[in-house]
Amino acid sequence: MLLEVRDLHVEFRTRDGIAHAVNGVTYGVDAGETLAVLGESGSGKSVTAQAVMGILDIPPARIGGGQVLFRGTDLLTLKEEQRRRIRGARMAMIFQDALSALNPVLTVGDQIGELFTVHRGMSRKDARARAVELMDRVRIPAAARRVRDYPHQFSGGMRQRVMIAMALALEPDLIIADEPTTALDVTVQAQVMDLLAELRHAHGMGLILITHDLGVVADVADRIAVMYAGRIVESAPVHDLYRAPAHPYTRGLLDSVPRLDHKGRQLRVVRGLPPNPRSLPPGCAFHPRCPLAREVCRTDVPPLYEVSETRASACHFWRECLDGRAGA
Ligand SMILES: Nc1ncnc2c1ncn2[C@@H]1O[C@H](COP(=O)(O)OP(=O)(O)OP(=O)(O)O)[C@@H](O)[C@H]1O
Ligand code: SF4
Ligand SMILES: [Mg+2]
Repeated sequence: MLLEVRDLHVEFRTRDGIAHAVNGVTYGVDAGETLAVLGESGSGKSVTAQAVMGILDIPPARIGGGQVLFRGTDLLTLKEEQRRRIRGARMAMIFQDALSALNPVLTVGDQIGELFTVHRGMSRKDARARAVELMDRVRIPAAARRVRDYPHQFSGGMRQRVMIAMALALEPDLIIADEPTTALDVTVQAQVMDLLAELRHAHGMGLILITHDLGVVADVADRIAVMYAGRIVESAPVHDLYRAPAHPYTRGLLDSVPRLDHKGRQLRVVRGLPPNPRSLPPGCAFHPRCPLAREVCRTDVPPLYEVSETRASACHFWRECLDGRAGA
């Protein structure tokens, strides 16, 4: 396994108490594989990704436990200096908002080039040439000229490509893309996703794709991990999960999307509201919204049950759900 997150816990100390943002996340991605992470707003998708990358602000965040194994090494035990080196060269992150992720006072050529001067000790001139190459590769037209432009001179879609170029620069083993296309219009979204999928194939990278868009997931992901209240509630190969979800929350998400092949469709929330991370319900955190809930769900936290060799579900009654008896 390229990356394996095991029983990760992250909490935030806030004025109103402790927010339990990540409560035992376990997921993994192999080289050359795309894992989609799906879930409503506030379910802990980004905080988990930030913990993996080592970019959480500690405090207010605190890692309460767990492991982040990258090629077998637990990143949580490394010194910041070692983590920084891995973060630059071995794993990279693409954010939703390129404009705030890029430096407004540096040309994109200097920003991409800096990766090569800092990490590879290249001359400025060589680094500039590599920047142009990369911009070509992510299909930014007239790269040789545009390398001198500043971020604000690019359209949203082109800026996102600049960020992808930066993520690819040092040929990382893993890319985490946190809603990389949410801010773009539908056609550009599709182009950027196609590009990511193509590059992932070409480079054999692992890709973790955080998204709200079920249409995108069906097209590009190999596996899905569904998050709820800071836990993975179901994980499965994409097509198995679409055919027959093994968790009532996943079923609710799928039922709320009439056509899975419809690009750009956002997740509509399942009836009821996600729980407050400062006061999570006891037992299964989903029980107040669950059509299958019964007494045991209010008291016993469901473990992540093994449904098959490739599937897992954190529901006491996953069999019923698989049989299709859980209408949302
Ligand atoms: N700096 C912080 N201080 C306090 N709470 C935080 C902080 N950052 C995140 N949280 C809380 O952690 C929980 C998980 O947040 P996270 O950003 O991971 O959600 P998400 O699944 O990425 O949602 P979205 O789809 O909206 O991006 C939320 O309840 C959020 O309020
Ligand atoms: S454990 Fe109970 S409440 Fe939780 S998802 Fe399963 S049936 Fe619903
Ligand atoms: Mg997020």
